[in-house]
Amino acid sequence: MNSNILIVDDKPENLYSLECMLSEPDRTILKASGGREALRIVLQEEISLILLDVQMPEMDGYEVAAMLQSTSRTRRIPIIFVTAISTEREYMLRGLNSGAVDYLFKPLDTEITRAKVNTILKIQQQQAEIERMNAQLTALNKEKNFFLGMAAHDLRNPIGNILTLASMLREELDENLNEEQQTCFEMLRSTGNQMLELLDNLLDISKIESGSVLRDVRTHTLESLLMDCIGSNRKIASKKNIQLHCSFKEEQVQLNTDRQQFTQILNNLVSNAIKYSPSGSVVDISAEIHTQEITIHVRDQGAGIPLDEQARVFSPFARTSVETTGGESSTGLGLSIVKRLLESNGGRIWFESAPGKGSSFSFSLPVCVGEMTENRG
Ligand SMILES: Nc1ncnc2c1ncn2[C@@H]1O[C@H](COP(=O)(O)OP(=O)(O)O)[C@@H](O)[C@H]1O
Ligand SMILES: [Mg+2]
Repeated sequence: MNSNILIVDDKPENLYSLECMLSEPDRTILKASGGREALRIVLQEEISLILLDVQMPEMDGYEVAAMLQSTSRTRRIPIIFVTAISTEREYMLRGLNSGAVDYLFKPLDTEITRAKVNTILKIQQQQAEIERMNAQLTALNKEKNFFLGMAAHDLRNPIGNILTLASMLREELDENLNEEQQTCFEMLRSTGNQMLELLDNLLDISKIESGSVLRDVRTHTLESLLMDCIGSNRKIASKKNIQLHCSFKEEQVQLNTDRQQFTQILNNLVSNAIKYSPSGSVVDISAEIHTQEITIHVRDQGAGIPLDEQARVFSPFARTSVETTGGESSTGLGLSIVKRLLESNGGRIWFESAPGKGSSFSFSLPVCVGEMTENRG
């Protein structure tokens, strides 16, 4: 790869000797006899490295470096100061603080000059390569999200149709179905629903990753938000003989938040607690209100997650050796979605868990605690 090196010095003989020292087939050496000329060249050409004389009449090297630092286009060009002034610490620091990466002292040592220039050019090239690959990865990730979203969306409708048709057929045949046929219909229903859940999760991931999640922030009471979640989980809990317990004092407190996202986060934690808890146990939901933040804890009396498996629970498709207690299905996507949703809202999630002692999942979300009347949007 060709690199452009700019050398700046007010003395023609210095420019000449540096040019001879640094010339190589894959390099172009550009020369400037002063600061202004150097700045003009830098704006016109892609420069990989500048060797900058410190003492120059119209504008010294420090001033040139400061100007280069002040615009984003030139800020990242490495500068080596070439100086005869002094090796004093104070001078060195001034140069390094004004954006220089290194110093060379006159009279120049050919070998050292070449070695320093080669190293910096190599770092520059590696950095350019990293940036190129990073841009490529970002574009590929965007494409992946697009396909993921499109595939999940286009699969969702036919599966929804299959489920509706199967349920219509079942109702029509109701009396005439034998036990085996009923089991088949039941399996059709539950596998279809599992697929819908998986597709919804994939759609969520694609939306969150592409940054297209819309937020609809309105004012709601804490009570109504918690009741949404308890209402939708109570039936499943009582089927498993699990008690849902909610303890919070400030139930009438008003929060400004996106209702759908808040309940999606809480639902995931509560449904996990139910999914991994034994019959006869209690799932406790509690809330703490701070001025700008709400923290919710969901505690269960389930098996608890082994220590060496805890690090992976927030990774997509990650499951642990903890088994669901009622044969529920598991995609391993719920907590990764919750974590991303919270982080995109400035919140966070954490948990404590130990085998035999249950798990306690908590999340904090910045919210505006207000006095406005509720708007159930
Ligand atoms: N309350 C809990 N108790 C025990 N294990 C849990 C609990 N919540 C989550 N886990 C573990 O973390 C994994 C990831 O959870 P999640 O992403 O919600 O996926 P899923 O619910 O589909 O299994 C689960 O598969 C389970 O192994
Ligand atoms: Mg889950």
